[in-house]
Amino acid sequence: MQYLPVHVLEEFMQEVFIRIGVPKDDAEICSKILIASDLKGIESHGIGRLKMYYDRIKLGIQNPETQIDVIRDRYATALWDGNDGMGHVIAHKAMQNAIDKARQYGIGAVAVRNSSHYGICGYYAEMATKEDMIGMTFTNARPSICPTNGVSPLLGTNPICFGAPTNLPYPFIYDAATSISQRGKIEQFAREERDTPSGWAIDLEGNPHTDTPRLLKDLVDQTAALLPLGGADETLGGHKGYGLGTMVEILCAALQGGSFLNGLLGRDESGKPAPYHLGHLFLAINIDFFIEIEEFKNTTTQICESLQSSQKMPDKERIYVAGEKEYENELEVKKHGVRILPNLAKNIAIMQEELGLKMI
Ligand SMILES: NC(=O)c1ccc[n+]([C@@H]2O[C@H](COP(=O)([O-])OP(=O)(O)OC[C@H]3O[C@@H](n4cnc5c(N)ncnc54)[C@H](O)[C@@H]3O)[C@@H](O)[C@H]2O)c1
Repeated sequence: MQYLPVHVLEEFMQEVFIRIGVPKDDAEICSKILIASDLKGIESHGIGRLKMYYDRIKLGIQNPETQIDVIRDRYATALWDGNDGMGHVIAHKAMQNAIDKARQYGIGAVAVRNSSHYGICGYYAEMATKEDMIGMTFTNARPSICPTNGVSPLLGTNPICFGAPTNLPYPFIYDAATSISQRGKIEQFAREERDTPSGWAIDLEGNPHTDTPRLLKDLVDQTAALLPLGGADETLGGHKGYGLGTMVEILCAALQGGSFLNGLLGRDESGKPAPYHLGHLFLAINIDFFIEIEEFKNTTTQICESLQSSQKMPDKERIYVAGEKEYENELEVKKHGVRILPNLAKNIAIMQEELGLKMI
């Protein structure tokens, strides 16, 4: 097992993006957001995803140069078309635009169509919390989740992210898929050569599917599905995860006039790779338009601290609030570096060799 310093990996990712045609400023944005994921301990969405973007650009289904068209722009709202450019760049600019609008109008909402995978949602929500605003973002994703009582993978893992500033050393950032697990975690299990836990995925007969490499292939072939948050049926609230995932699909496609469900498969009718045409929504709420920021932060802090200090289950040491683990991970990763599993090292070696790079 190898641990690499954060700055080495960030510079490596930036150089890879530049060499495959991403302009320098955009490459900086992409690598900054990817390394933020590794810092937060979200290994599925950092350096581990670099080869996916690299392959998609090489395949010609994602444009390294991002051309954004503003379709509508009215006061607090806008609709953009990302023209299959770099998702991180589009998302970064869209959240910045939502923040600028919220500064002026109290609220800002930017919807995006024809984008690509933008990585972790938390980064964009945190852009708003740093400006003393509430930040929210949603994205749809290629289909992999079945509806409650169904087996067909139709919805994406469709994450929901909500961030609010606090007086703690970290903001409250709830950032998670509306499925039990996101696909990146299954890919991480593949790198770790581990089975997928029972209850996370089913085959077309509704049986548990735990064979990780086969599951990844079956998800692409649409012969397996991941389960919505809450699980396979209504017993533990599977219908609630299904409802939330559908809400995200609507927020990321219907407002945009964008693609949805099987329209996000990333292949055309003949089965050839095609752009994913993902949609996103970014919201910023300017707290100052409602209440003094310090009063807001005092309340969010009290809510978080009351939850953290409440009575624990006998076998549990701590109660967390969302955003706390990522903050603590960041402190650790800054000290020890980013963990590079052997399968990830292989991908890094492939990219270095193909690009004639010797950075790692
Ligand atoms: N771009 C995409 O298409 C896409 C799709 C799905 C997920 N994602 C990203 O993947 C990342 C991980 O998603 P996930 O679904 O695996 O998330 P997860 O299941 O790891 O949950 C993460 C959230 O839960 C909070 N959390 C964790 N343990 C907690 C505890 N004990 N108490 C309170 N809060 C706790 C974290 O602070 C965080 O907000 C996210 O950053 C998400 O944005 C991206």
